[in-house]
Amino acid sequence: MAFPFSPPITQETATEFFSSSGVKIKEAGTFVGEVTKDAKVNVADVAERVGSMFKSVEACGVVTAVGPGLTGRQVGDLVAYAGQQMGSYAEEQILPANRAVPVPPSIDPKVAASLMLKVCGNKKSITAKSDSTIVIQVEPGHTVLVHAAAGGVGSLLCQWANALGATVIGTVSTKEKAVQAKEDGCHHVIIYKEEDFVARVKEITSNNGVEVVYDSVGKDTFDGSLEVLKLRGYMVSFGQSSGAPDPVPLSAIAAKSLFLTRPSLFHYAATREELLEAAGEVFANVASGILWVRVNHTYSLSEAAQAHADLENRKTSGSIVHIP
Ligand SMILES: NC(=O)c1ccc[n+]([C@@H]2O[C@H](COP(=O)([O-])OP(=O)(O)OC[C@H]3O[C@@H](n4cnc5c(N)ncnc54)[C@H](OP(=O)(O)O)[C@@H]3O)[C@@H](O)[C@H]2O)c1
Repeated sequence: MAFPFSPPITQETATEFFSSSGVKIKEAGTFVGEVTKDAKVNVADVAERVGSMFKSVEACGVVTAVGPGLTGRQVGDLVAYAGQQMGSYAEEQILPANRAVPVPPSIDPKVAASLMLKVCGNKKSITAKSDSTIVIQVEPGHTVLVHAAAGGVGSLLCQWANALGATVIGTVSTKEKAVQAKEDGCHHVIIYKEEDFVARVKEITSNNGVEVVYDSVGKDTFDGSLEVLKLRGYMVSFGQSSGAPDPVPLSAIAAKSLFLTRPSLFHYAATREELLEAAGEVFANVASGILWVRVNHTYSLSEAAQAHADLENRKTSGSIVHIP
């Protein structure tokens, strides 16, 4: 039975997916979804929010049926996916097979469920080759700022930037989250509800600023993030948990010849090859211990409203997973 907030998958679209090389999976774990916030968002707006951005688009499950003529995937395979097929708040789901990624046996399904969207969307921002004009290769000697450093994505970004040899500054809202961010590789943690993060970053970097800011908070942090970047720094604005940033005048970018990018997972794992490469690298890094995923909260599907409320109220850290 589909969860009531899931966007409707009609018999027609389900049949279409299935007959054009689809797989049906029984969910093992489902990531709660994205957080986005504007002035009117509250718990009662969950259904509206689900319809307004890409939500419930990440899960891990066991294949229970494959479409006619499909090769390469079998009943019993453990697969995960992110994006381009809403409706993961469900016990069973039909997916286009080319979005389903095999999950190695060493990876816990809850971890796989919470990993796909985050890392496909953001790993290239941190690891892609520096010959790209929009992303930067983080390397030793760099200093990076990660907002919401104890969040699902933030936690992984801190670990990865640290592993690449960068000095990592993280922002969080509470002392408890600060402890986690430290454990995840932050060399400096700023509690941005209590401290002015701009002043603190300038202090930490002796007024030099940072090479990269990973900003998923959006409205509340965007301007400050630009302010703490070095000349030719990279502003990676990949989310808007506090609301959409105001329009950015070109003069704000020109002031320091900055690079501004708004990456989306859909564009960094657009082809099957890119998807498999990204997922393979991430699973390998989890298996080898370079990355660890904190599934700090699990909820049943019937507790989805509570999960969203906790997410919106900044009560969560790490990843949040529904267990059907
Ligand atoms: N571009 C992409 O392809 C892509 C892919 C995945 C995720 N994302 C985005 O990345 C962001 C992080 O996703 P996530 O799942 O890992 O969530 P998350 O970071 O675990 O949760 C959101 C965190 O944002 C912080 N925050 C700051 N101001 C907030 C506010 N006004 N309301 C709510 N939270 C606020 C909170 O941390 P503190 O309490 O520490 O401030 C909160 O815990 C989201 O904005 C998501 O949309 C983008």
